[in-house]
Amino acid sequence: MLVTAPPFQMLVSIGKIRYNIQVMIQGGSMSIISIDNLIFDYNRIGDDGVEVKQRAIDGVSLELEAGSFVAIVGQNGSGKSTLAKCLNGLLVPTGGTIKVYGMDNRDDERIWDIRSKVAMVFQNPDNQIVNSIVEDDVAFGPENIGVEPSEIRIKVDEALKKVGMYDLRNKGAHMLSGGQKQRVAIAGAVAMRPDCIIFDEPTAMLDPKGRKQVMEIINELHEQGITVILITHFMQEAAEADRIIVMQDGKIMSDSNPAELFGNPR
Ligand SMILES: Nc1ncnc2c1ncn2[C@@H]1O[C@H](COP(=O)(O)OP(=O)(O)O)[C@@H](O)[C@H]1O
Ligand SMILES: [Mg+2]
Repeated sequence: MLVTAPPFQMLVSIGKIRYNIQVMIQGGSMSIISIDNLIFDYNRIGDDGVEVKQRAIDGVSLELEAGSFVAIVGQNGSGKSTLAKCLNGLLVPTGGTIKVYGMDNRDDERIWDIRSKVAMVFQNPDNQIVNSIVEDDVAFGPENIGVEPSEIRIKVDEALKKVGMYDLRNKGAHMLSGGQKQRVAIAGAVAMRPDCIIFDEPTAMLDPKGRKQVMEIINELHEQGITVILITHFMQEAAEADRIIVMQDGKIMSDSNPAELFGNPR
């Protein structure tokens, strides 16, 4: 049975700013991200040179619970990456609302708070490495949000250890394998100490070994309490989540768990 309590107010400090947020408890867990009737249109130039609207997200509503491991699957073009980019404020919704701990992600003043709570790891590690030395790359995020240098050192070391890249911290990023680069990208996200990490097909460009290591890290981060949203093409990866959302044509087709979706309890 799902026990639903009425929403209540809670005071939260992020950085130096305090927020009075609304918390919703459903079945004993807290909602970290609330999406209500999200719409996203891309404007693109059609064959005739006229601008046309391409609806990529078409009325998605979701509650994502703190500490959960959610997989998002669906065919190419179903809107998964667009949804992910809306979640951490890289794209501004055309309609509907996204709230992270009650903060509306259309609020420019809160976008950095949202990005430090909801980090993102993309498919191609080469596009995410911004500094040539591993540890400098991991420090980039915390530096950008103005973390004290002594704190940065601690966060970077901790993040590199978590992904098993501490011994290679002084290496040039270009020397690394694809899997190692992706682990550095994950360390970059972890160094922000986010509550939630969205992984958009993080293993798609990796060999089986790199894929396995990245999945192990994702599972460990989840066990340590990080909310994981994993967009993936691989059903065996989705099967590790506790909730699987199937998208099609910008809509949610199904929202269930591995046993329900695949039929055989693990
Ligand atoms: N930058 C863009 N400009 C125009 N259309 C886009 C852009 N990015 C994605 N789309 C379109 O939006 C839809 C959803 O794409 P996307 O979110 O990338 O799906 P997925 O990640 O599931 O493959 C597709 O129809 C795609 O062609
Ligand atoms: Mg995609």
